[in-house]
Amino acid sequence: MKINGEHYHTIWLNENDHSVVQIIDQRFLPHKLVVEDLNSVDDVERAIREMHVRGAPLIGVAAAYGMYFAALEAPHAVEREKYIESAARKLKAARPTAVNLAWAVEQQLKLALGKVENLPNSLLKNAERLKNESIERCKKIGEFGLPLIEAIYKEKKQTVNILTHCNAGWIACIDHGTATAPMYAAHNKGIPIHVWVDETRPRNQGARITAFELQEHGVPHTVITDNAGGHLMQHGQVDMVLVGTDRTTRIGDVCNKIGTYLKALAAFDNAIPFYVGAPTSSIDLSLHSGFDIPIEERGETEVKYIQGLHEGEIKKVLLTPKDSPAANFAFDVTPAKYVTGLITEYGICKAKEEDLLKITSNNDG
Ligand code: MRU
Repeated sequence: MKINGEHYHTIWLNENDHSVVQIIDQRFLPHKLVVEDLNSVDDVERAIREMHVRGAPLIGVAAAYGMYFAALEAPHAVEREKYIESAARKLKAARPTAVNLAWAVEQQLKLALGKVENLPNSLLKNAERLKNESIERCKKIGEFGLPLIEAIYKEKKQTVNILTHCNAGWIACIDHGTATAPMYAAHNKGIPIHVWVDETRPRNQGARITAFELQEHGVPHTVITDNAGGHLMQHGQVDMVLVGTDRTTRIGDVCNKIGTYLKALAAFDNAIPFYVGAPTSSIDLSLHSGFDIPIEERGETEVKYIQGLHEGEIKKVLLTPKDSPAANFAFDVTPAKYVTGLITEYGICKAKEEDLLKITSNNDG
């Protein structure tokens, strides 16, 4: 997708120096476009943990490049395996909820522990493959999700209002996004859409990042407070909810950014379809219930302080009484019964075990 008319991915290998991977540092969006160089396992681990990169598909790909750095850093012979295994553990622990992270690291680890010639090169190639596959997955989610929006438009003959939470856009992925891919596909086809963008406290991924990318692509949108969605739904202002996922279990429970569950409840109460853009890399068949998913708890400063632009400078200001404790649960679980459908790269399926097993079997061949 484009920023200021220039095409970007969120992560790329420096063409002139293959020991450097570059990322868009999302902490400064939308006010500053900062490109950061990463060139070690520790750099990648920190970038994931501190959310310079974020969004389930993107942290998976970033970690895959991290494993490439592990191979470059590893001493020879026996120690090499130990070093790479410890790098894998470190990267996986950076953020616990999105399964894409462990999924990508495990794939790299398997390759690394096998007998391959020129390990760094093999891991680099595999990271690039994972990146390209991630782009393709999102593109397909756009193609499969488009008819849902088209159908609402055909019936309504007016602008389709879509509510989204957090940022499951191209900036959370490599390109296109998951939840946003059908929105971009509809907009590009000339279907009038308008997106209600939940601000998504505490880190405001909606207000800062989703709004930024929709704005850059010319998609009409309005930022709303996290609590406004239910009211809009009651007043016929939302035709569909479309969100991403960090991990969806075997029975279709959807874990996503904190607050998603409340949107699903409100959508259910108002008979509004609730769809999830879910690449199969976010589906974890090893877990049954969503309540088995580890929910990341982050530091209290993210809740107590708020960041914005003041006189041209990005500043953080204290919001709460200085000594009030704060809790920061980063994700919640929407039970499958509230999910109308999952839009995967292989098509739309119900949030049900048999459908999920069928759709993910496409990955076996
Ligand atoms: O904590 P974040 O910003 O990494 O959380 C991101 C989300 O919850 C997204 O909705 C999810 O990763 C899907 S991204 C396509």
